[in-house]
Amino acid sequence: GAAQLKDGFGRVIDYLRVSVTDRCDMRCSYCMPKAFKGFQEPAAWLSHQEMCRLVSLFVRLGISKVRLTGGEPLLRRNLPDLVRSMSSLAGLEDLSLSTNGAHLVAHAHALKAAGLHRLNISLDTLTPERFHEITHRDCLEDVLAGIQLARQLGFRMVKINMVLQAGVNDDEVDDMLQFAVKNGLVLRLIETMPVGHADLGKTAVDVTAMARRLVKKHHLIPHTEPVRTGPAQSWRVPGSSAMLGVITPMSQHFCAACNRLRLGVDGTLYPCLGHNDATPLGRMVRSGASDADLADAIRLAVANKPERHEFHERPERVVRFMSATGG
Ligand code: GTP
Ligand code: 5AD
Ligand code: SF4
Repeated sequence: GAAQLKDGFGRVIDYLRVSVTDRCDMRCSYCMPKAFKGFQEPAAWLSHQEMCRLVSLFVRLGISKVRLTGGEPLLRRNLPDLVRSMSSLAGLEDLSLSTNGAHLVAHAHALKAAGLHRLNISLDTLTPERFHEITHRDCLEDVLAGIQLARQLGFRMVKINMVLQAGVNDDEVDDMLQFAVKNGLVLRLIETMPVGHADLGKTAVDVTAMARRLVKKHHLIPHTEPVRTGPAQSWRVPGSSAMLGVITPMSQHFCAACNRLRLGVDGTLYPCLGHNDATPLGRMVRSGASDADLADAIRLAVANKPERHEFHERPERVVRFMSATGG
């Protein structure tokens, strides 16, 4: 399409992350505290129709990639219907989903049939004890089965997201890379971000240094895109379809390559993960805003998109929980 969204720093914004629910059936401590009570009222959740109206407007304005997130998106009822309506939007080139994988076996066929292109699946460990310690659930086997099925169904580039915590799973990186090689996956090592109540305390890991070691040890080959978009940086594993990726918000700032916006389940637009700025598009939809009104609000939010997160300088700034916008 001809339309393009550009922010105040000249960055092209072509990627929208849409949270389809803020509920999750796991309780990873870096995302949602165990006794979390701050869920959205169901009455505020956008309907499929309201979500599609907004997403189709974003696509007309220049968004070409959409990622569905949560909470856990597979908990949203009739998700394949939503995927089908979005995947048929002209101008939408890449439709993907980030999931904890626990219910993937039940939903993967329908999602593929509905037109979903890509899946990113969270997996921090391969051992059942640690899986329980991190997620407070016991469904490692289900997640592993979901990953296998995703590969079998031919989703392009299945990515595994491993959030690193020192003393919890940072000794498992080599095993995880081996798992990725064996199964033709992209393994992404992620530094925990201090959002919500995520307490980095003694668990922070320098993934930049970790990657340097892995690149040397496994002779990884830099995978360079013409223009870097988004937070990830990646390498190919020689002789394998597997890749290694790193997402290093703490040790290496990647915001200059930012291309994204986020939409909460109630239609609140968040222009940056690291800031509290928000535009209530959902409330505007419900009070009868026209497409032109909504487009103006979106353009204004993009124009004012913050340059970068300030996790180091002002750690108290972000009050939102990861579960509200799916990362
Ligand atoms: P693709 O690159 O489209 O495959 O997805 P992604 O890596 O952007 O999405 P995913 O949901 O798999 O998120 C992986 C990690 O990246 C999570 O920890 C997210 O919180 C983090 N992440 C995604 N987008 C941003 C961003 O704009 N800023 C920051 N700081 N982190 C992000
Ligand atoms: N820091 C970094 N990544 C996080 N995720 C959830 N919370 C955090 C955090 N505090 C990750 C999940 C999932 C992805 C969508 O976001 O592990 O893989
Ligand atoms: Fe973009 Fe903000 Fe994420 Fe930086 S922290 S990559 S500016 S959304």
